[in-house]
Formats: sequence, C-alpha cells, structure tokens
Amino acid sequence: MRKTKIKIKGLSKNFGEKKVLKNLDLNIYESESLAIIGESGSGKSVLTKCIDGLESFDSGIISYDNIENIGDLKNLQKDQYMTKFGILFQNAALLDSLTVKENLEFSQKKNVKEILKDLSIPENLLNEYPNTLSIGVQKRIGLARAILKNPEILILDEPTTGLDPIISKQINLIIKKLVKEKKITTITVTHDMNSVYEFSDYTAFIKNGSISWYGKSKDIKKNGNKPLLNFVKGIY
Ligand SMILES: Nc1ncnc2c1ncn2[C@@H]1O[C@H](COP(=O)(O)OP(=O)(O)O)[C@@H](O)[C@H]1O
Ligand SMILES: [Mg+2]
Repeated sequence: MRKTKIKIKGLSKNFGEKKVLKNLDLNIYESESLAIIGESGSGKSVLTKCIDGLESFDSGIISYDNIENIGDLKNLQKDQYMTKFGILFQNAALLDSLTVKENLEFSQKKNVKEILKDLSIPENLLNEYPNTLSIGVQKRIGLARAILKNPEILILDEPTTGLDPIISKQINLIIKKLVKEKKITTITVTHDMNSVYEFSDYTAFIKNGSISWYGKSKDIKKNGNKPLLNFVKGIY
C-alpha cells in the first residue's frame, strides 16, 4: 500500500511574465524513488525548489504529511520544514574553503564512517579541499553530505550530468544501493535514462509546465506518451 508523503495540487510558479509551472499535480509516495524528466528549462529544478521550500510559489497547494500547505509556513516553521530535505545540487555545491571533513561535519548527524564506506569515499580524502578532487568524487561527497543529515526526502538534481559514462555508472550504482537499501524517499531530476531505469521506481515527465506522463519507470517504453517517447529517443 503506497503512502502519500507529498501531495501537489494545482501548483503554479511564475518568474515575472514567464509561467514556468502551470496547474501542476503530482503525488510523491513514502520510500519510493521518483525521477523527474523533461527538456532543459522545463521547470524540473524549480519544482524541486517549490517542494523543499527554497522557492515560494504563486498558487496551488503542496501538502506534506500533516502540513496542509507548506506555502503557508513562516519563519521558524519554514526553517524546520527545510531540514527534512537532503539535497545534492547540480554542481555538488561544496564549500571550497573548507576541507572535505569540514564540509561533511556541516550536516553531520549520523555515523560518517559508515556513509563514507557506502559511498566509496576513502578516508584519506577527508583533509583535502573539494576543488582538488575530481567531479565524480565531489558528487559522492555532496551525496554523503545530503545523506548525513538523515533526511526524510533526498533530492538529487542531475547527479550524473557532466560525468563520463563510467563515473555516471558508478554514481548510479551507489545511489541505487542507498535508495534501495535505506528506502529513502528520493526525487531525482535527470536527463540520464540509466538513472531512471537503475534506481527510480516511478517517473514524472514535465511538459508545458505540468506533468504530461506519470507511471512506473519500467513502463516508459511500453505506455509512455508520444512526447515522452520522443524525448527519451532524443537523448539517446
Ligand atoms: N530565479 C529565477 N529567476 C528567473 N527565472 C528563473 C529562475 N529560476 C529558474 N528560472 C527559469 O525557469 C525556467 C525553468 O528553470 P529550471 O527549473 O531551472 O529548468 P530545468 O528543467 O532545466 O531544471 C527556465 O526558463 C529558467 O530560466
Ligand atoms: Mg535544472
């Protein structure tokens, strides 16, 4: 039985005249891994930021557990809400002035050693500075940082973009292990169909500001609508 964690109803988000999200509906279920796919600029990152509280929205409702609408949260309540999320941003967003260890302690709540092992991060990297490390390692550290918060929801924004196919595969396998073993509710924005098929139970396809297809990732090729099938073909 699927349990709804986040319910999005009629969500709209504009930047000035530009309507990015238009009357968008989407449910996110506990312990499931959801991929959000769609063209560049279609509003995938903006949608995740509306969900995790980094962006406000113009109309609609985002309910989270017993919170009726996160759009109504203010100040401390809002800050508290935002701590539920562990986020890996597109550029890993590590602080270059801090060592790896300092970057991780930033959000430390649980056993660092175990997480480092899960993510194949050698302990001897702890005293290095992020900008001396490869992008793949930086992504793994960003992921460790997100997980160390022990988040209710993990948000991964393009975890493999800019990585070569071999490193992408490693990252996908690491995420798969985390997501499947720990059953963390995960939202992944991606162009990488391997991330979709490898570790995302469900997929939502954004087009023209709303969800044009939603279903099991394994059914994309079977049931996907025309724009989705073209999109999937186009990126291969
Ligand atoms: N802070 C902002 N100010 C103005 N426009 C923005 C802002 N953030 C995003 N946008 C615009 O919203 C649209 C969707 O952006 P985004 O969600 O980042 O796309 P993507 O699907 O590639 O992640 C784009 O046209 C982008 O230029
Ligand atoms: Mg984006």
